[in-house]
Amino acid sequence: MLNTTFIFFICLFKLIKCLNYYNLYKLFIYSANIYLSYKFTELTMAKELIKAIIFTEFDEKLGPNPILWYPSDLPESFRMAVSIKSITILSADQGLMPKSLIIMPFPSLTSKGIIKYIEKEDKSRRGGVAQSSITLLFSEIDDLIFYKYLSFLEPAFNKITQEIIKIEDIKENKEILSNQIDNLRAEILNILEDLRIKEQSVLKSEAFPEEPVEDKGIIKYKFKIVVCGDPGVGKTSTILRFTDNAFRRTYIATIGVSISEKNVLINKEGVNFILWDIAGQLKFEMMRKHYYKGAEAAFLIFDLTNPETLKNIPKWYKDIIKEVKLNHNLPMMIIGNKCDLTKKRMIKRKEAEDIAKKLSLDYYETSALTGENISEVFKQIAKKCIETELG
Ligand code: GTP
Repeated sequence: MLNTTFIFFICLFKLIKCLNYYNLYKLFIYSANIYLSYKFTELTMAKELIKAIIFTEFDEKLGPNPILWYPSDLPESFRMAVSIKSITILSADQGLMPKSLIIMPFPSLTSKGIIKYIEKEDKSRRGGVAQSSITLLFSEIDDLIFYKYLSFLEPAFNKITQEIIKIEDIKENKEILSNQIDNLRAEILNILEDLRIKEQSVLKSEAFPEEPVEDKGIIKYKFKIVVCGDPGVGKTSTILRFTDNAFRRTYIATIGVSISEKNVLINKEGVNFILWDIAGQLKFEMMRKHYYKGAEAAFLIFDLTNPETLKNIPKWYKDIIKEVKLNHNLPMMIIGNKCDLTKKRMIKRKEAEDIAKKLSLDYYETSALTGENISEVFKQIAKKCIETELG
């Protein structure tokens, strides 16, 4: 199926190029890029999700020591980087070991990782316990899937933990460990495949249950919204909370963004949101140009527990304005996310409102974790986009 489609595109491409219809040619390239990346994502999703699995032992003399890994040709620098970072959480928390799974970013590897810590009795060690970890690396771009379904993966990690605890001497019994890691990988892929099938069979999400949009024919407006902000502020989580779609996304590898869609009714009119999410940091200006191109609105998100991320909001604002040279105002909104973390909060509402006022933008506070205000910010931005469109 993919081959026939591909050949069809190539023929069409050659024809358009011969006819020298430049704009049509550009439109074609754009659509083909989106279509093929979507197809590719759909076909390869399940088996491509796991980039690596590394089992690390925390050796008193050697420090973090990767003992076993998948795939077997994983470079040493990669293994060491993952093992060292996986142990940092223990040193930061006075050696206290998290009981449940945690997700940690590995920006230098453009990855994120699920870490399961294991503690087992070992009289030869100081304190009588040996500590180890299993780190499952996945692409930053797939983080929606792992955030959403983390709790579904927990039993598989608990099961392997029990098996590993039973192994007498891990270094002497690497084959048993290797089988366990293979089983874990297969089990997680099975779980994810089941979830993917289930999610794809659900035709629409439930963010606005009172206003469902079943029929795509009634869509009157289509808006591209770019979601901007420093790493870790909650861009991906906000999109996930709104769309509830972890698998149904398009990934444009060439510029490192993922795109989600959602239809809603605003004042009885269908609105189709196309949400663009930056993968990682999108550091290069050249790349950000593509990201902003054609944007009809933008969310500028910061983290209420991290003042640096608010300080950078005007930079994001200027960056967008520079690229999206519109002759009318681009609807934008400043969002202070993680408002559920009341004890860790370090920014007063007034501080954020002052910055929003200086930029003449509205300010909202949200929690992608609890869902507070998430549907509200999307409703408000849609209304602004419609007003802008109607002039
Ligand atoms: P990058 O992909 O690195 O740019 O990060 P991002 O801005 O997309 O942030 P992401 O959604 O990956 O969230 C970063 C971390 O913050 C994750 O551990 C989330 O679970 C957590 N997080 C996101 N939103 C909230 C929130 O509203 N409340 C709390 N408590 N945690 C949140």
